[in-house]
Amino acid sequence: MTTNRLEKAIERHFASGSAAIGDPEAMMSFLALRSAIESGEVRAASPDAASPTGWRVNAWVKRGILLGFRLGVLEEMALAGLSFVDKHTYPARHFTAGDGIRLVPGGSSVRAGAYVARGVVCMPPMYINAGAYVDEGTMVDSHALVGSCAQIGKRVHLSAAAQIGGVLEPVNAGPVVIEDDVLVGGNCGVYEGTIVRKGAVLAAGTILTRGTPLFDLVNGEVLRAAGDLPLIVPENAVVVPGARAVNKGKGQEWGLSLYAPAIVKYRDDKTEVSATLEDLLR
Ligand SMILES: CC(C)(COP(=O)(O)OP(=O)(O)OC[C@H]1O[C@@H](n2cnc3c(N)ncnc32)[C@H](O)[C@@H]1OP(=O)(O)O)[C@@H](O)C(=O)NCCC(=O)NCCS
Repeated sequence: MTTNRLEKAIERHFASGSAAIGDPEAMMSFLALRSAIESGEVRAASPDAASPTGWRVNAWVKRGILLGFRLGVLEEMALAGLSFVDKHTYPARHFTAGDGIRLVPGGSSVRAGAYVARGVVCMPPMYINAGAYVDEGTMVDSHALVGSCAQIGKRVHLSAAAQIGGVLEPVNAGPVVIEDDVLVGGNCGVYEGTIVRKGAVLAAGTILTRGTPLFDLVNGEVLRAAGDLPLIVPENAVVVPGARAVNKGKGQEWGLSLYAPAIVKYRDDKTEVSATLEDLLR
């Protein structure tokens, strides 16, 4: 089926609401979409130079992913002697050595409907949810989460316990995007459609949401999400977690500070050394 026909079929079955349940054609269309996502042919969001964010949300793909939840019935899944229960439309993916992905033993799972490119390393335990896209050479370290529809570029390091939030609904909302060569430090959280541009570095413990102002100390600007635009971390920015004094009301009286991530510099030779990964481990 061509992508165009697949899109039309998904839109039709999604619009038919509960009538799609039990309809074999709806299931066929969903399964075709699921394989197209797993092979990387279609994505929940794609690079698009014409869009103000550089990314286009493919709302029909997200509707198709939701259709899969509607069509799924709970099923017992026995894997490696353990017992799980989930929608039968979203089992765990299976890989072979020929896929060129390292999935190190120990409590990790990649859900059906996620794309994982060759050369990706998955350290246990980690989870990649449906609709996510993880590109070549990326490392998903222990306890990291790649949420539904999140788009992760090439050679990204998602460090231990990094949480990349999922955005499935509303369907026209942009997912979290981590572009090529980004280092997401340990215990970071990137949520609500935030876009982290190429080469940026998030120091350990940085949390970014739609409501988080980002203080660019280099250019003297405060970056925020506004209207349809999410929070965007500029290319090569080095972001560290900081704090700012509350200067009014009770917060001031009590001497409180609020969390305030700051761009302390743009990537330089020292950052390269700090962010270098050991190729031998890959
Ligand atoms: C951000 C990072 C890569 C350092 O980058 P760098 O370019 O070498 O940064 P520098 O050391 O030159 O620091 C630049 C400024 O940011 C500050 N800074 C650096 N890291 C910081 C952090 N984590 N928190 C707060 N401030 C930090 C430095 O003090 C310095 O400020 P100063 O000049 O006022 O002293 C490093 O701190 C980091 O977080 N690495 C990720 C570690 C990690 O999570 N590993 C995971 C393994 S699974």
